[in-house]
Amino acid sequence: MEHGRNIGALASDAMDHYMFSLAKMEDIRRDGPMIFTDGKGLEVKDVAGKTYLDMMSMQTRATSLGFANEEIARAIYDQLCKLHYAGCMSFVADSAIRLSVEIAKRTPKGMTHCVYGGSGSEANELAFKIAKQYHRHVGRKPHAHKIIARWDAYHGATMGAQAATDSLGTRHGNEPGVPGYSHIPAPIGYRNPFGMEQRKYYDFCIDYLEQQILHEGPDYVAGFIGEPVMQTFGAQVPPDDYWPRVREICDKYNVLLIADEVICGFGRTGKWFAMEHWGVVPDVITFAKAVTSGYFPLGGAIVKKEIAEAIPQFLHVQTYQGHPGGCAAALKTIEILERDKLIEKGRVNGEYFLKKMKRLENLAVVGETRGLGMWTAIDFTSDKRTRKVLAPAHVGKIAKRMRELGVLGGHTVYGIEFAPGLIATQPQLDRCVDVAEQAIKEVSKEEGLG
Ligand SMILES: Cc1ncc(COP(=O)(O)O)c(C=O)c1O
Repeated sequence: MEHGRNIGALASDAMDHYMFSLAKMEDIRRDGPMIFTDGKGLEVKDVAGKTYLDMMSMQTRATSLGFANEEIARAIYDQLCKLHYAGCMSFVADSAIRLSVEIAKRTPKGMTHCVYGGSGSEANELAFKIAKQYHRHVGRKPHAHKIIARWDAYHGATMGAQAATDSLGTRHGNEPGVPGYSHIPAPIGYRNPFGMEQRKYYDFCIDYLEQQILHEGPDYVAGFIGEPVMQTFGAQVPPDDYWPRVREICDKYNVLLIADEVICGFGRTGKWFAMEHWGVVPDVITFAKAVTSGYFPLGGAIVKKEIAEAIPQFLHVQTYQGHPGGCAAALKTIEILERDKLIEKGRVNGEYFLKKMKRLENLAVVGETRGLGMWTAIDFTSDKRTRKVLAPAHVGKIAKRMRELGVLGGHTVYGIEFAPGLIATQPQLDRCVDVAEQAIKEVSKEEGLG
């Protein structure tokens, strides 16, 4: 009884005092907020005491080592007791230097320098500033300032990152934005905006980049940003020639290639960084989320040696950049990933997971299941022949039913996404697929789908 009263009071306090982000208030009012209190491994408990299997690393795909990892918590605690802050200009904490060395050991060849922020958005802001300042100093393109991004991409919430963003309605809702950004079609699979044959569409996306650079003026274009595997509508794995051909175009016009690995980085796709799948070395990699498994807010940019060294004074500063606590969390996260071979485990389990998910394609409303490493998605359709989307309300109902059945996935407009922690076991992955199947069947029956 006491417990029940507390739930009601907390939910009511949430409505009175907490401002929710992105969630629609009508949904929160109808369904109530999800208030969590405890977690262990991949299980997380809400305030009513219900336990969920978290197959989405808590909505954002951040918690890749799961909950209650005492090693990381202790590393942060020990660091804060020893040195909790060290400034951010010429002063730097030893842990920030040690982290930069460890990251450089694991990044594609020639990517040697790190600069830090507190989030993925800030990581991308860093990348844009690096691109602009690099061109200014190197001199071949002193006026280059434009950034090209892709339709439906998400790159962050701060104004520069938001200008590169084209999803979730956040850009339009906060206009006017920062000038100098433009967008080109993105290599999304299963259905594309023009209804083109898929291979033709991918070629079109690649050719479009060159046309856009020419259209904007090569001398004015500083960088092109894209996620190696794009989140849009769920885990979009591009064809094998996409990134190598994009790399060639960027080289041809001296445009920096920025790989937004905020989701992909630190093991999500079965490699340290997803660009490794295609043997492509970007100029800048941005990262956040899994670098600390969500135990401390940290993001950053990894930069090629010649680019970092060409900038005589990087015009950017933030009070908390390279925070020793975040760096300690990241150092421990990297140590655990390596010691427990979790990236390899994620690669093997990811293949297992996707193979299991393939059986869902037998259901009338499942158009495609896809993914790479521990990142998968179900793309729904109301008509397998035309690949017409299934109404988001129906997809939302399936995600909700899964939640009621104790499994958390992510609802991505026309699909449901899974990005479990790299520590997930095969029985946990099996349970996720079983629950997805049950939820799809139940909702299909109730709604008369398929
Ligand atoms: C690909 C990508 N880039 C950037 C960001 C922004 O990161 P943050 O929310 O940490 O600012 C996100 C967040 O989800 C993301 O998915």
